[in-house]
Amino acid sequence: MTAPLPPLTIIGHRGARGLAPENTLAGIETALRLGVDGVEFDVQRHPDGGLFLLHDLTLERTTNGQGLAAAQPFDTLRRLDAGHGERVPTLHEALDLIDRRGLVNIELKTWNGCAAAVAEVIRAQMAQGWDAAQFIVSSFHLPELQRFCSALPEVPVAALYCGVPLAGAAELATLGAAQVHLADEFVDADYVAAAAQNGRPAWAYTVNTPEAAQRLTTLGITGIFTDHPERFLRPVATAPVQ
Ligand code: G3P
Ligand code: MG
Repeated sequence: MTAPLPPLTIIGHRGARGLAPENTLAGIETALRLGVDGVEFDVQRHPDGGLFLLHDLTLERTTNGQGLAAAQPFDTLRRLDAGHGERVPTLHEALDLIDRRGLVNIELKTWNGCAAAVAEVIRAQMAQGWDAAQFIVSSFHLPELQRFCSALPEVPVAALYCGVPLAGAAELATLGAAQVHLADEFVDADYVAAAAQNGRPAWAYTVNTPEAAQRLTTLGITGIFTDHPERFLRPVATAPVQ
């Protein structure tokens, strides 16, 4: 029998990717109704300036569109089917839906302007009552993340790595990162300990079984991104997501 998990922060990955189309409003709502601590989704900036939720730079895998998302007029992008009749949401729509019901991890997927545009949206939400601590902004593109820090230093940021950086955890301090998000297959206990020593928790993606979570907790991981929040949580509301 697997030992009980220590308390872990549970974040719905791309909404609740195992249960609903990824990066859609239905996915986000599904995760929140399951009682996640927060949701993660991927954000891109369209050349016209609009911010939208999509993981890939291209459309084929998750929508009925084709080619580069940035090459489509924004209106066309918004009319695509992102799965089960869901639309490609804007960042505004996602935040309106969440309405402060959980942590929001915005992952910056594009650069050269994405950080500044996201900072502007978050600043506007903070003026409407959101707390800076209700957001975590992350990216694999660390210079873009640094630009976000300069634009809105009060919002916590997380460095994303899919490997173990040669520079070690010291880079987190250079960046001013509050935490670090690591690929599950490259979680290194020494790196996690060095980050934790300086008060920076490490979370892992993508973790879909309690057994995997159990292993990661022994390496010092304190939060997980999961496609299947239902495997870690009990529902807090039973109404089906339309
Ligand atoms: O933010 C955690 C995780 O989402 C990073 O990888 O490729 O799923 O966006 P990816
Ligand atoms: Mg992501």
